Amino acid sequence: MNDYRLVRFLAIAPLFFLLSCNRLQKPVEKTNAKDLMTIKKDYYGNAGDSNVYLYTLKNNKGLEVAITNYGGIITSILAPDREGHFEDVVLGFDSLGGYLSGHPYFGCIVGRYANRIARGKFELDGKIYKLATNNGPNHLHGGEEGFDKKIWKATDIVKSDSVYLVLEYTSPDGEEGYPGNLDVKVTYVLNNENELKIYYEAQCDKPTPVNLTNHSYFNLAGAGSGNILDHELMIEADKYTVVDETLIPTGELRPVENTPMDFKNSKKIGKDLDQVKGGFDHNFVLNNKGKFSKVAEAFEPISRRVLEVFTSEPGIQFYSGNFLDGTETGKNNKTYHKHYGFCLETQHFPDSPNHPEFPEVILTPGEIYQHQTMYKFSTRKE
Ligand code: BGC
Repeated sequence: MNDYRLVRFLAIAPLFFLLSCNRLQKPVEKTNAKDLMTIKKDYYGNAGDSNVYLYTLKNNKGLEVAITNYGGIITSILAPDREGHFEDVVLGFDSLGGYLSGHPYFGCIVGRYANRIARGKFELDGKIYKLATNNGPNHLHGGEEGFDKKIWKATDIVKSDSVYLVLEYTSPDGEEGYPGNLDVKVTYVLNNENELKIYYEAQCDKPTPVNLTNHSYFNLAGAGSGNILDHELMIEADKYTVVDETLIPTGELRPVENTPMDFKNSKKIGKDLDQVKGGFDHNFVLNNKGKFSKVAEAFEPISRRVLEVFTSEPGIQFYSGNFLDGTETGKNNKTYHKHYGFCLETQHFPDSPNHPEFPEVILTPGEIYQHQTMYKFSTRKE
Protein backbone atom coordinates (compact mmCIF):
# COMPACT_ATOMS: atom_id res chain seq x y z
CA MET A 1 0.00 0.00 0.00
CA ASN A 2 1.43 3.40 -0.90
CA ASP A 3 1.21 6.31 1.55
CA TYR A 4 -1.83 7.82 -0.10
CA ARG A 5 -3.76 4.53 0.02
CA LEU A 6 -2.73 3.95 3.63
CA VAL A 7 -3.97 7.39 4.67
CA ARG A 8 -7.25 6.83 2.81
CA PHE A 9 -7.66 3.38 4.43
CA LEU A 10 -7.00 4.77 7.93
CA ALA A 11 -9.50 7.54 7.32
CA ILE A 12 -12.38 5.29 6.29
CA ALA A 13 -11.70 2.19 8.44
CA PRO A 14 -13.45 3.60 11.55
CA LEU A 15 -16.48 4.37 9.40
CA PHE A 16 -16.72 0.74 8.28
CA PHE A 17 -16.27 -0.39 11.86
CA LEU A 18 -19.12 1.85 13.05
CA LEU A 19 -21.33 0.74 10.19
CA SER A 20 -20.80 -2.95 10.96
CA CYS A 21 -21.45 -2.40 14.70
CA ASN A 22 -24.62 -0.58 13.81
CA ARG A 23 -25.73 -3.47 11.62
CA LEU A 24 -25.01 -5.82 14.54
CA GLN A 25 -27.07 -3.80 16.99
CA LYS A 26 -29.95 -2.95 14.70
CA PRO A 27 -32.99 -5.21 14.94
CA VAL A 28 -33.99 -6.93 11.73
CA GLU A 29 -37.63 -7.83 11.30
CA LYS A 30 -39.24 -10.19 8.80
CA THR A 31 -42.99 -10.09 8.38
CA ASN A 32 -45.50 -12.34 6.81
CA ALA A 33 -48.00 -9.63 5.88
CA LYS A 34 -50.94 -11.91 5.18
CA ASP A 35 -51.10 -13.64 8.53
CA LEU A 36 -49.36 -10.88 10.50
CA MET A 37 -46.63 -13.10 11.83
CA THR A 38 -43.21 -11.67 12.52
CA ILE A 39 -39.76 -12.73 13.56
CA LYS A 40 -37.39 -10.09 14.84
CA LYS A 41 -33.67 -10.52 15.32
CA ASP A 42 -31.94 -8.38 17.95
CA TYR A 43 -28.35 -8.34 19.03
CA TYR A 44 -28.43 -9.87 22.55
CA GLY A 45 -24.80 -9.62 23.67
CA ASN A 46 -21.57 -11.52 23.45
CA ALA A 47 -20.57 -14.93 24.76
CA GLY A 48 -16.79 -14.90 24.55
CA ASP A 49 -15.97 -13.69 21.05
CA SER A 50 -19.30 -14.71 19.57
CA ASN A 51 -22.26 -12.48 18.92
CA VAL A 52 -25.47 -13.80 20.38
CA TYR A 53 -28.92 -12.88 19.10
CA LEU A 54 -32.44 -12.87 20.44
CA TYR A 55 -35.19 -13.91 18.03
CA THR A 56 -38.74 -12.84 18.82
CA LEU A 57 -41.44 -14.85 17.10
CA LYS A 58 -44.90 -13.30 17.14
CA ASN A 59 -48.22 -14.53 15.79
CA ASN A 60 -51.43 -12.74 14.84
CA LYS A 61 -52.93 -13.37 18.31
CA GLY A 62 -50.09 -11.39 19.90
CA LEU A 63 -48.45 -14.47 21.44
CA GLU A 64 -44.73 -13.86 21.54
CA VAL A 65 -41.86 -16.28 22.07
CA ALA A 66 -38.30 -15.04 22.46
CA ILE A 67 -35.44 -17.48 21.88
CA THR A 68 -31.71 -16.90 21.93
CA ASN A 69 -29.19 -18.89 19.92
CA TYR A 70 -27.15 -19.20 23.15
CA GLY A 71 -28.28 -22.63 24.41
CA GLY A 72 -31.44 -22.39 22.28
CA ILE A 73 -32.98 -20.84 25.39
CA ILE A 74 -36.60 -19.73 25.38
CA THR A 75 -36.20 -16.52 27.37
CA SER A 76 -39.85 -15.48 27.41
CA ILE A 77 -43.32 -16.52 26.31
CA LEU A 78 -45.95 -13.79 26.46
CA ALA A 79 -49.32 -15.53 26.62
CA PRO A 80 -52.79 -14.02 27.15
CA ASP A 81 -55.03 -14.77 30.13
CA ARG A 82 -58.81 -15.08 29.79
CA GLU A 83 -59.20 -11.27 29.77
CA GLY A 84 -56.53 -10.92 27.08
CA HIS A 85 -53.79 -9.65 29.43
CA PHE A 86 -50.38 -10.86 28.34
CA GLU A 87 -47.91 -12.17 30.89
CA ASP A 88 -44.52 -13.81 30.61
CA VAL A 89 -45.10 -17.42 31.65
CA VAL A 90 -41.54 -18.79 31.73
CA LEU A 91 -38.71 -18.18 34.20
CA GLY A 92 -35.51 -16.58 32.99
CA PHE A 93 -33.40 -13.44 32.98
CA ASP A 94 -33.66 -9.93 31.54
CA SER A 95 -30.39 -10.20 29.65
CA LEU A 96 -27.76 -12.62 28.34
CA GLY A 97 -25.56 -11.95 31.39
CA GLY A 98 -27.97 -13.83 33.65
CA TYR A 99 -27.71 -16.93 31.48
CA LEU A 100 -23.93 -16.69 31.19
CA SER A 101 -23.40 -16.59 34.93
CA GLY A 102 -25.02 -19.98 35.56
CA HIS A 103 -28.61 -21.07 36.19
CA PRO A 104 -30.69 -24.23 36.63
CA TYR A 105 -31.25 -24.83 32.90
CA PHE A 106 -33.92 -22.16 32.41
CA GLY A 107 -35.63 -22.63 29.01
CA CYS A 108 -32.70 -24.28 27.25
CA ILE A 109 -32.13 -27.17 24.88
CA VAL A 110 -30.67 -30.01 26.91
CA GLY A 111 -28.29 -32.57 25.39
CA ARG A 112 -26.46 -34.68 24.37
CA TYR A 113 -28.29 -36.70 27.01
CA ALA A 114 -31.02 -34.92 28.98
CA ASN A 115 -31.47 -36.07 32.60
CA ARG A 116 -29.17 -38.43 34.49
CA ILE A 117 -26.72 -41.17 33.61
CA ALA A 118 -25.73 -43.14 36.72
CA ARG A 119 -22.17 -42.52 37.93
CA GLY A 120 -21.45 -40.82 34.57
CA LYS A 121 -20.78 -44.18 32.95
CA PHE A 122 -22.19 -46.43 30.28
CA GLU A 123 -21.00 -49.30 28.13
CA LEU A 124 -21.42 -49.36 24.37
CA ASP A 125 -20.09 -52.07 22.03
CA GLY A 126 -17.84 -53.39 24.79
CA LYS A 127 -16.28 -50.04 25.63
CA ILE A 128 -16.87 -48.06 28.85
CA TYR A 129 -17.50 -44.36 28.33
CA LYS A 130 -16.88 -41.92 31.17
CA LEU A 131 -18.79 -38.65 31.44
CA ALA A 132 -18.62 -35.77 33.90
CA THR A 133 -20.32 -36.39 37.24
CA ASN A 134 -21.82 -32.94 37.63
CA ASN A 135 -24.79 -33.88 39.84
CA GLY A 136 -23.61 -35.66 43.00
CA PRO A 137 -22.36 -39.06 41.81
CA ASN A 138 -24.21 -38.78 38.48
CA HIS A 139 -24.03 -37.15 35.08
CA LEU A 140 -26.80 -34.58 34.41
CA HIS A 141 -28.05 -32.82 31.27
CA GLY A 142 -25.03 -33.47 29.05
CA GLY A 143 -22.27 -32.55 31.52
CA GLU A 144 -20.24 -29.47 32.40
CA GLU A 145 -20.88 -27.74 29.10
CA GLY A 146 -23.94 -29.29 27.54
CA PHE A 147 -25.96 -28.06 24.57
CA ASP A 148 -27.53 -25.45 26.87
CA LYS A 149 -24.24 -23.49 26.82
CA LYS A 150 -23.46 -23.75 23.10
CA ILE A 151 -23.89 -21.10 20.48
CA TRP A 152 -26.20 -22.46 17.82
CA LYS A 153 -26.26 -21.44 14.20
CA ALA A 154 -29.63 -19.78 13.68
CA THR A 155 -31.81 -19.36 10.60
CA ASP A 156 -35.10 -17.50 10.81
CA ILE A 157 -37.81 -18.28 8.30
CA VAL A 158 -41.23 -16.77 7.71
CA LYS A 159 -43.77 -19.04 6.03
CA SER A 160 -47.37 -18.45 5.10
CA ASP A 161 -48.81 -19.91 8.30
CA SER A 162 -45.92 -19.99 10.77
CA VAL A 163 -42.56 -18.56 11.77
CA TYR A 164 -39.53 -20.80 12.20
CA LEU A 165 -36.28 -20.58 14.06
CA VAL A 166 -33.90 -23.34 12.98
CA LEU A 167 -30.98 -23.95 15.33
CA GLU A 168 -28.03 -26.15 14.39
CA TYR A 169 -25.05 -27.38 16.32
CA THR A 170 -22.40 -30.03 15.67
CA SER A 171 -21.18 -31.73 18.81
CA PRO A 172 -17.66 -33.03 18.14
CA ASP A 173 -16.50 -36.59 18.75
CA GLY A 174 -15.50 -36.91 22.41
CA GLU A 175 -17.28 -33.77 23.58
CA GLU A 176 -18.14 -34.25 27.25
CA GLY A 177 -16.97 -37.86 26.81
CA TYR A 178 -19.66 -38.88 24.29
CA PRO A 179 -18.64 -40.92 21.23
CA GLY A 180 -18.93 -39.63 17.68
CA ASN A 181 -19.76 -36.38 15.94
CA LEU A 182 -23.40 -35.47 16.28
CA ASP A 183 -25.21 -33.03 13.98
CA VAL A 184 -28.18 -31.60 15.83
CA LYS A 185 -31.03 -29.54 14.51
CA VAL A 186 -33.77 -28.09 16.69
CA THR A 187 -36.55 -26.16 15.00
CA TYR A 188 -38.93 -23.93 16.92
CA VAL A 189 -42.17 -23.18 15.04
CA LEU A 190 -44.90 -20.78 16.14
CA ASN A 191 -48.27 -20.68 14.40
CA ASN A 192 -51.47 -18.68 14.75
CA GLU A 193 -53.12 -21.38 16.89
CA ASN A 194 -50.82 -20.39 19.79
CA GLU A 195 -48.86 -23.60 19.27
CA LEU A 196 -45.14 -23.69 19.78
CA LYS A 197 -43.76 -26.80 18.11
CA ILE A 198 -40.25 -28.11 18.66
CA TYR A 199 -38.77 -30.54 16.15
CA TYR A 200 -35.60 -32.35 17.19
CA GLU A 201 -33.29 -34.10 14.74
CA ALA A 202 -29.81 -35.60 15.01
CA GLN A 203 -27.40 -37.75 13.04
CA CYS A 204 -24.14 -39.33 14.14
CA ASP A 205 -21.06 -41.01 12.70
CA LYS A 206 -20.54 -43.43 15.65
CA PRO A 207 -23.14 -45.07 17.89
CA THR A 208 -24.00 -42.66 20.72
CA PRO A 209 -26.76 -42.09 23.25
CA VAL A 210 -29.00 -39.12 22.41
CA ASN A 211 -31.83 -37.62 24.45
CA LEU A 212 -32.86 -34.05 23.71
CA THR A 213 -35.42 -31.88 25.45
CA ASN A 214 -36.39 -28.34 26.31
CA HIS A 215 -36.11 -27.26 29.94
CA SER A 216 -38.60 -24.39 30.23
CA TYR A 217 -39.86 -23.59 33.72
CA PHE A 218 -43.49 -22.53 33.48
CA ASN A 219 -45.60 -20.43 35.81
CA LEU A 220 -48.91 -19.74 34.09
CA ALA A 221 -49.73 -16.95 36.55
CA GLY A 222 -46.57 -15.14 35.43
CA ALA A 223 -42.89 -15.74 36.11
CA GLY A 224 -41.96 -14.67 39.64
CA SER A 225 -45.58 -14.14 40.76
CA GLY A 226 -45.60 -16.95 43.33
CA ASN A 227 -45.45 -20.71 43.54
CA ILE A 228 -47.10 -23.16 41.17
CA LEU A 229 -48.74 -25.35 43.83
CA ASP A 230 -52.28 -24.26 42.87
CA HIS A 231 -51.78 -25.11 39.20
CA GLU A 232 -53.80 -28.14 38.25
CA LEU A 233 -51.93 -30.79 36.32
CA MET A 234 -52.91 -33.83 34.29
CA ILE A 235 -50.37 -36.34 32.96
CA GLU A 236 -51.43 -39.18 30.64
CA ALA A 237 -49.30 -41.82 32.34
CA ASP A 238 -50.25 -45.05 34.07
CA LYS A 239 -46.72 -45.63 35.35
CA TYR A 240 -43.57 -43.81 36.44
CA THR A 241 -39.95 -44.84 36.78
CA VAL A 242 -39.08 -45.44 40.44
CA VAL A 243 -35.79 -43.77 41.44
CA ASP A 244 -33.18 -44.22 44.15
CA GLU A 245 -32.09 -41.40 46.47
CA THR A 246 -29.84 -39.92 43.75
CA LEU A 247 -32.77 -39.87 41.28
CA ILE A 248 -31.51 -42.79 39.20
CA PRO A 249 -34.21 -45.25 38.04
CA THR A 250 -34.12 -48.60 39.78
CA GLY A 251 -35.65 -50.18 36.66
CA GLU A 252 -39.10 -50.60 38.20
CA LEU A 253 -42.05 -49.09 36.33
CA ARG A 254 -44.64 -48.60 39.07
CA PRO A 255 -48.35 -47.94 38.53
CA VAL A 256 -49.32 -44.43 39.62
CA GLU A 257 -52.76 -45.54 40.75
CA ASN A 258 -53.50 -44.83 44.41
CA THR A 259 -50.17 -43.05 44.83
CA PRO A 260 -49.28 -39.32 45.01
CA MET A 261 -47.89 -39.76 41.46
CA ASP A 262 -51.37 -40.20 40.00
CA PHE A 263 -52.07 -37.23 37.71
CA LYS A 264 -54.39 -39.14 35.36
CA ASN A 265 -57.19 -36.92 36.60
CA SER A 266 -56.15 -33.32 36.91
CA LYS A 267 -55.20 -32.32 40.47
CA LYS A 268 -53.39 -29.45 42.15
CA ILE A 269 -49.61 -29.87 42.07
CA GLY A 270 -49.56 -29.04 45.79
CA LYS A 271 -52.18 -31.63 46.74
CA ASP A 272 -49.92 -34.64 47.41
CA LEU A 273 -46.54 -32.91 47.10
CA ASP A 274 -45.72 -33.35 50.82
CA GLN A 275 -45.96 -37.12 50.41
CA VAL A 276 -43.18 -37.17 47.80
CA LYS A 277 -39.73 -36.83 49.35
CA GLY A 278 -38.01 -33.79 47.87
CA GLY A 279 -41.01 -32.97 45.65
CA PHE A 280 -41.87 -34.16 42.15
CA ASP A 281 -38.82 -34.87 40.00
CA HIS A 282 -39.87 -38.02 38.18
CA ASN A 283 -40.10 -39.52 34.74
CA PHE A 284 -43.63 -40.52 33.82
CA VAL A 285 -44.09 -43.40 31.40
CA LEU A 286 -46.48 -41.93 28.87
CA ASN A 287 -49.47 -43.79 27.48
CA ASN A 288 -48.89 -42.33 23.95
CA LYS A 289 -47.24 -45.52 22.57
CA GLY A 290 -44.71 -43.37 20.71
CA LYS A 291 -47.44 -41.54 18.79
CA PHE A 292 -47.49 -37.73 18.77
CA SER A 293 -50.41 -36.98 21.07
CA LYS A 294 -51.47 -34.94 24.07
CA VAL A 295 -49.67 -36.14 27.19
CA ALA A 296 -50.15 -33.37 29.77
CA GLU A 297 -52.20 -30.31 30.59
CA ALA A 298 -51.60 -27.60 33.20
CA PHE A 299 -54.21 -25.06 34.25
CA GLU A 300 -53.82 -21.97 36.42
CA PRO A 301 -57.18 -21.10 38.04
CA ILE A 302 -56.80 -17.29 38.48
CA SER A 303 -55.51 -16.32 35.02
CA ARG A 304 -57.27 -19.39 33.57
CA ARG A 305 -54.30 -20.00 31.30
CA VAL A 306 -53.90 -23.53 29.99
CA LEU A 307 -50.76 -25.22 28.73
CA GLU A 308 -51.15 -28.46 26.80
CA VAL A 309 -48.16 -30.64 26.02
CA PHE A 310 -48.04 -32.99 23.05
CA THR A 311 -45.17 -35.31 22.21
CA SER A 312 -44.04 -38.45 20.46
CA GLU A 313 -41.49 -39.17 23.22
CA PRO A 314 -42.08 -42.11 25.62
CA GLY A 315 -41.49 -40.13 28.83
CA ILE A 316 -41.89 -36.78 30.53
CA GLN A 317 -39.95 -35.46 33.51
CA PHE A 318 -42.31 -33.58 35.77
CA TYR A 319 -40.11 -31.39 37.95
CA SER A 320 -41.79 -29.13 40.51
CA GLY A 321 -38.89 -26.65 40.84
CA ASN A 322 -37.70 -28.25 44.09
CA PHE A 323 -34.17 -26.88 43.90
CA LEU A 324 -35.14 -23.26 43.20
CA ASP A 325 -34.10 -21.51 46.39
CA GLY A 326 -34.44 -17.78 45.91
CA THR A 327 -30.82 -17.29 44.83
CA GLU A 328 -31.89 -16.55 41.24
CA THR A 329 -32.97 -12.99 40.53
CA GLY A 330 -34.88 -13.24 37.34
CA LYS A 331 -36.78 -10.97 34.98
CA ASN A 332 -38.08 -7.68 36.41
CA ASN A 333 -36.00 -8.22 39.56
CA LYS A 334 -38.24 -11.05 40.71
CA THR A 335 -36.78 -13.82 42.82
CA TYR A 336 -37.50 -17.45 42.06
CA HIS A 337 -38.13 -19.45 45.21
CA LYS A 338 -38.83 -23.16 45.71
CA HIS A 339 -41.74 -24.35 43.49
CA TYR A 340 -41.96 -21.01 41.61
CA GLY A 341 -41.88 -22.90 38.31
CA PHE A 342 -42.45 -26.40 36.96
CA CYS A 343 -40.95 -28.26 34.00
CA LEU A 344 -42.53 -30.82 31.71
CA GLU A 345 -39.49 -32.21 29.89
CA THR A 346 -40.43 -34.63 27.13
CA GLN A 347 -37.73 -37.28 26.93
CA HIS A 348 -36.51 -40.87 26.90
CA PHE A 349 -36.18 -42.38 30.35
CA PRO A 350 -33.30 -41.27 32.59
CA ASP A 351 -30.22 -43.51 32.63
CA SER A 352 -31.49 -45.53 29.63
CA PRO A 353 -27.93 -46.34 28.42
CA ASN A 354 -27.67 -48.50 31.56
CA HIS A 355 -31.18 -49.97 31.24
CA PRO A 356 -31.49 -52.15 28.15
CA GLU A 357 -35.13 -52.82 29.12
CA PHE A 358 -36.01 -49.11 28.58
CA PRO A 359 -36.86 -47.71 25.11
CA GLU A 360 -33.71 -47.49 22.95
CA VAL A 361 -31.58 -44.32 23.13
CA ILE A 362 -28.56 -45.38 21.08
CA LEU A 363 -28.44 -43.64 17.73
CA THR A 364 -26.37 -45.39 15.05
CA PRO A 365 -24.80 -43.97 11.87
CA GLY A 366 -27.35 -43.78 9.06
CA GLU A 367 -30.30 -43.44 11.44
CA ILE A 368 -32.09 -40.17 12.11
CA TYR A 369 -33.01 -39.24 15.65
CA GLN A 370 -36.30 -37.44 15.40
CA HIS A 371 -39.08 -36.33 17.67
CA GLN A 372 -41.59 -33.61 18.10
CA THR A 373 -43.02 -31.78 21.09
CA MET A 374 -45.64 -29.05 21.16
CA TYR A 375 -46.63 -26.55 23.84
CA LYS A 376 -50.07 -25.11 23.16
CA PHE A 377 -51.39 -22.08 25.03
CA SER A 378 -55.06 -21.26 25.54
CA THR A 379 -57.48 -20.14 28.25
CA ARG A 380 -60.40 -21.87 29.91
CA LYS A 381 -63.77 -20.16 29.87
CA GLU A 382 -65.31 -21.57 33.07
C1 BGC B 1 -33.92 -32.58 36.93
C2 BGC B 1 -33.79 -31.98 38.29
C3 BGC B 1 -32.80 -30.85 38.20
C4 BGC B 1 -33.32 -29.84 37.21
C5 BGC B 1 -32.40 -28.68 37.00
C6 BGC B 1 -34.44 -31.52 36.01
O1 BGC B 1 -34.55 -32.03 34.73
O2 BGC B 1 -34.75 -33.71 36.92
O3 BGC B 1 -33.36 -32.93 39.23
O4 BGC B 1 -32.61 -30.25 39.43
O5 BGC B 1 -33.52 -30.47 35.98
O6 BGC B 1 -31.15 -29.08 36.77
